[in-house]
Amino acid sequence: MTTKHRITLLPGDGIGPEIISVAVAVLKAIAAKHDLEFTFTEALIGGAAIDETGEPLPEATLTACRQSDAVLLAAIGGYKWDNLPRQQRPETGLLGMRAGLGLFANLRPATILPQLIDASSLKREIVEGVDIMVVRELTGGIYFGQPKGIFETETGEQRGVNTMAYSVGEIDRIAKVGFETAQKRSGKLCSVDKANVLDVSQLWRDRVTAMARDYNDVELSHLYVDNAAMQLVRAPRQFDTIVTGNLFGDILSDAAAMLTGSIGMLPSASLGAAGTPGVYEPVHGSAPDIAGQDKANPLAQVLSAAMMLRYGLNEPKAATEIETVVNQVLDQGYRTGDIMSPGMKAVGCQKMGEILLKLIG
Ligand code: IPM
Ligand code: MG
Repeated sequence: MTTKHRITLLPGDGIGPEIISVAVAVLKAIAAKHDLEFTFTEALIGGAAIDETGEPLPEATLTACRQSDAVLLAAIGGYKWDNLPRQQRPETGLLGMRAGLGLFANLRPATILPQLIDASSLKREIVEGVDIMVVRELTGGIYFGQPKGIFETETGEQRGVNTMAYSVGEIDRIAKVGFETAQKRSGKLCSVDKANVLDVSQLWRDRVTAMARDYNDVELSHLYVDNAAMQLVRAPRQFDTIVTGNLFGDILSDAAAMLTGSIGMLPSASLGAAGTPGVYEPVHGSAPDIAGQDKANPLAQVLSAAMMLRYGLNEPKAATEIETVVNQVLDQGYRTGDIMSPGMKAVGCQKMGEILLKLIG
């Protein structure tokens, strides 16, 4: 019997439309082979939505997302919208979607692909075998805490304020995702905070420590965020699963991504409570400098579609097939500009998509 899945597509800005069209073609080819039927609904987000409707996250987009089984997002943002008031910036649309769909858990894998190891800025012997999953809290912490804003003090001086706050409930639910993710991987969880300085981090550490009693099979460690950043570039193989707050996760997941040397290869998943649709997107941004030139690497978007199949639509076989063909194109030496190295075959975004389709057959 054919299984049906409703997918909302959010192409967004910059290279977004080019890379998402490759992922859609791949999904269609996979559907035919695995007796799946996808219905795609396209909606606006980011700068594209601002141009069309005046706001970065139209209500219609949130509604479309809520009515689907999963959301595939490309990327948002660009110079054109950088100087608008904060409420009208593309990033505000992204944050609104995270909050609006309750996507509190962001899973960002950073896995070294053997074919691309020399693309890393670190030495081969340091990064070989790196396989890290950053579990980042996504709807709380300093990104959303109140009060926030730019205020005027009594002396008339301006003062910018953001608040880092976490409730026990928020900590516990992301810690649970961290422990369960570690259980499915090598059983090692490192919780990252700044408990030596911040009260919010002390509560974080206390809760994560308390919860560890329910996960005897997980080996828990704690690091302060500054040390974690250092350890990530010093000896990244010591990490398996990392769980951390919104801001620390934003920073550490970029650092972890760059260990692999190929941010253009990394997918991510943002997940909410059971039964709500997750959002799957590349870790990289909208790369406005190369938009529309057929230079973008579509593989992170394609791997995001695989993550969607695995975590959101419960279609692990179809997910594995996508991951396998991505490996094959790399084995065969095809490279977009961002992962090009001497002796390899340079291809553009479209061509990379065509090769993937040929391999799916
Ligand atoms: C990310 C990005 C976003 C964030 C921006 C674009 C709002 O850096 O997804 O990591 O800070 O969360
Ligand atoms: Mg970021």
